[in-house]
Order: sequence, then C-alpha cells, then structure tokens
Amino acid sequence: MSKKKQLIAGNWKMNGGLAANEALIGALRQGVGQPVCDVAVCVPAPYLAQVQVLTQGSPIALGAQDVSAHAQGAFTGEQSVSMLKDFGVGYAIVGHSERRQYHGETDEVVAAKAGAALAGGITPIVCVGETLAEREAGKTEEVVRRQLAAVIHTNGHCISEIVVAYEPVWAIGTGKTATPEEAQAVHAVLRAQLQHAAGDAAARVRILYGGSMNAANAASLLAQPDIDGGLIGGASLKAPDFLQIIAAAR
Ligand code: G3P
Repeated sequence: MSKKKQLIAGNWKMNGGLAANEALIGALRQGVGQPVCDVAVCVPAPYLAQVQVLTQGSPIALGAQDVSAHAQGAFTGEQSVSMLKDFGVGYAIVGHSERRQYHGETDEVVAAKAGAALAGGITPIVCVGETLAEREAGKTEEVVRRQLAAVIHTNGHCISEIVVAYEPVWAIGTGKTATPEEAQAVHAVLRAQLQHAAGDAAARVRILYGGSMNAANAASLLAQPDIDGGLIGGASLKAPDFLQIIAAAR
C-alpha cells in the first residue's frame, strides 16, 4: 500500500470575517507551495461560499465544522450533506468535544452524522477525546474506544473512509499539549481498534491529533508512527503558524 498522506486541517471554530478570511487564505496560498500533506480549512457555514472561491485552484480543501444526520426537513439551523456539497465541501468535522459539551451530541448522534457524510461523499473527521477528569481517573482508553465504537458499529462497512481526530479535551485551547508519547499511546489504541474492525483497511484511516498543536511542537507530534496529521484550532487562524505546521508534515 502506498504511504498515506498526512492531513493538516484547520478548525476555525466560530472565528473569521469576510475581510479576515480573504487575508488569511491569501497568505496561505502565497506560502503553501506544493505541500507533501493534504491541507484543509474547516470554516463557519456562512463563509463556505466565500472560502470555496478563495481556495479554488489551490491545494487547500474546504471543510465544514458539522453536518446534519438528516437529508432535509424540519431541522432548524442544520446543514445537510447535499448543502455542503453545493459548496465543494470535502470534509466535515463531527463530534467535536465542543458540540458534545454544548449541544449534547451523543456517540449515537455522532455516528449518524458520520454515516450521513460517508453516504454523501464527504469525509467525516470524527473527534474523540477524554476530559481531564476522565484522564485522571484512568479512563482515557475506555472513553475514546467507546466513542469510536459507536461510529464503527454504524459505519463498519466503510470505516476505512473516515478520518479520526484524537483531541484530548484538556489540551484544546489550553496550550497544554499532550506529549508525543501520550498522544501516540492513544493513537495506537485507536489504530488497534480500527484494525480489529476493518483489518488491513484500517491502515488507510488517518488518525489526526488535535489539542494545542502549534508551530513549535508539530514536528515531534507528526513524527509519531500513528499520528497521521493534525486538527488545528488557534494556530490555523495565523497564516505563518499554520504554514509551519503544514511544513512539518512528513
Ligand atoms: O478541532 C481542533 C481544536 O479542538 C484544537 O484547538 O486551539 O487547541 O488547536 P486548539
């Protein structure tokens, strides 16, 4: 099997503006060159049309930060897979800890969203990760395996098409990054779980690390055998930092 490309995806979260987006994407296009990895920016829904145009002809793919599990109908405020496809969206983050926390998204809802994305030809970036309390209670493996198991249960037949993002909640936005060894240990657990479910096809699944990855620590994290890229929050909003993380990909 040819070596899979790492993926560096920016999660802008609820940040950006028409002028700021134009400046950021312009700076990224100027500095990104021909990256050895895949690159994506996951932007707020109101900016999908603008960023689709701004990234056209560049190596920067477009992603969404959520997707509905439903095809259409009375689901106020949600965006369906077909709506995202209208704007050339290739990736959709599902199950981000902030949506699990603030919107009560359960493992089952996340699995259904991943299934809808897969069925519609969008690659889901499925987020899993433990809270500080769960880590301190020694429950990290139990939590991430449970979260991933729900997605495997619903989408086992095409599990090799997903991307997984391990995002320890205690590292998100805190500057307290997991060490490369801590992250690799959890990635290895997730890899083994995928291999049990999908056999050799699991090797195609990219497992990203997210949680205060930045220009200074990216290379050491991305050098780990089971870390296949990064899901970047704050550092993706600063072109020089995001470009340095892209350049650190192997
Ligand atoms: O989805 C990525 C995000 O949760 C990580 O945020 O700011 O810690 O890189 P940050």
